[in-house]
Amino acid sequence: MAYGGYSYFDPKYSPDSEHDFTVLFWAKGSMPIEKIAEAIAAESSVGSWTKLRTMNDFVWNHYRARVFKISKVGKNSGLIWIAYPLEHFDVKNIIQFQASVLGNIFGLKELEELYIFDVAFPRGYQHQFSGPLHGLEGIRKLAGTTKTRRPHVGTIVKPKVGLTPKEWARVAYEAFAGGLDLVKDDENLVDQDFCKWKNRLHEVMHSIEKAGDETGQNHLYSSNISDRYSRMLDRVDYLNSHGLQKHVIVMLDTYVLGMSALQDILEKTKKYKFATHGHRAGFAGPNRADFGISFQIYEKFYRLLGIDQLHIGTGVGKMEGSPVMIKRLHEIANAHELEEKIYLGALEMEYHKTIKPTLAIASGGLDAGKIDALVALQGKDVNIQAGAGVHGHPGGTRKGAISLRQAVDAVMKGIPSPQYAKTHPELKQALNQWSYFQPSKIEKILEYEKKNAKALRTLALKKGRKGMKLAFE
Ligand code: 3PG
Repeated sequence: MAYGGYSYFDPKYSPDSEHDFTVLFWAKGSMPIEKIAEAIAAESSVGSWTKLRTMNDFVWNHYRARVFKISKVGKNSGLIWIAYPLEHFDVKNIIQFQASVLGNIFGLKELEELYIFDVAFPRGYQHQFSGPLHGLEGIRKLAGTTKTRRPHVGTIVKPKVGLTPKEWARVAYEAFAGGLDLVKDDENLVDQDFCKWKNRLHEVMHSIEKAGDETGQNHLYSSNISDRYSRMLDRVDYLNSHGLQKHVIVMLDTYVLGMSALQDILEKTKKYKFATHGHRAGFAGPNRADFGISFQIYEKFYRLLGIDQLHIGTGVGKMEGSPVMIKRLHEIANAHELEEKIYLGALEMEYHKTIKPTLAIASGGLDAGKIDALVALQGKDVNIQAGAGVHGHPGGTRKGAISLRQAVDAVMKGIPSPQYAKTHPELKQALNQWSYFQPSKIEKILEYEKKNAKALRTLALKKGRKGMKLAFE
């Protein structure tokens, strides 16, 4: 079933992981799914709505996309697998990739739904990226947890905006004094008049010094520099001129910045050897409904580009995302090989050997009572952050921080938090305030996934995106 005079359907084609991008789509529209698939392949590679007198054999053979698999759900809907050859892309240019594969196709008027689940990046494309400079192990080194291997714990100072630099740094000090590794700016705090970035930075450095003398820890501050590119550049230069690499992690609102600014600013942070912290604020807006792009794809780009620690949601807190999906996002951050899980819209992929793991950040609606469940889901290589779950503690910020550290100590000793709380009053207060999230709930979900992987796959192939939602949500 051709579209625009050509057929892109090639069911015998088998993508080569060195050279081909594989992309998994869900689509529904007013044409048969076979034609929709052809339209997507055409518009995202070499074709258009009608036959081209300028097409030649070389272009067709070297640059076209190939629809190699369709799993039909209804007459006009289904899952589509398309392969794109490496030559199609301007390899050092992510914007060109976005404009091709994640671009014009969303506007085709025949489409009622279009969701791009995943991209398996060929190894030939990954060569150009250097990945995280510090990554999971580098951040552990900064925090001094290489040997203990405990989860990192941090807080987002709240209120999100409004505190003066001195007030902000005072809250940060309390959090550090309570034993937290990291304090971070919220995604919407940068350089407002009431809390200028430089003033806040220097005040926090005093807090780090003072708290460090008391705790013996190397405390960290994720400083949000997100802005137009020139201002971010000035801020990184400023941080470097003060030699703050040991304590400051450069925080970036990765999604709203866009790939172009992100790619360039990461070159600068790497040159100066700063670690980086990625916040994905804004991502969910265009990506939760019928048209969208899964976070899996952005996350892969962020790791390839070199974000050292990255927010991925929690599965047990306030942000969307089933625990099973969060587990997958955790793997995208720190595994080397990714297995195919069609019920999550997830493709098989292997990272190039030089790409270090990124430290996954669980953040959004967390408190001490959720740490056992988080560790059951993500393991111990994770940075757990709680904002309101620290500053809303009945005893205040310091006790909120202590409650998080106690929950981490408990999990490291293999003692469930409620038991540990009997002799640790701050943890007890936190559990009384917000209750305890039973890790067995997570264990059951993961067990269910393991036992039913085949059936879940069949459901996804038969019912498409709806089937995937039915599985876990
Ligand atoms: C974040 O940056 O992840 C959020 O501000 C989390 O805030 P919360 O812990 O208060 O939900």
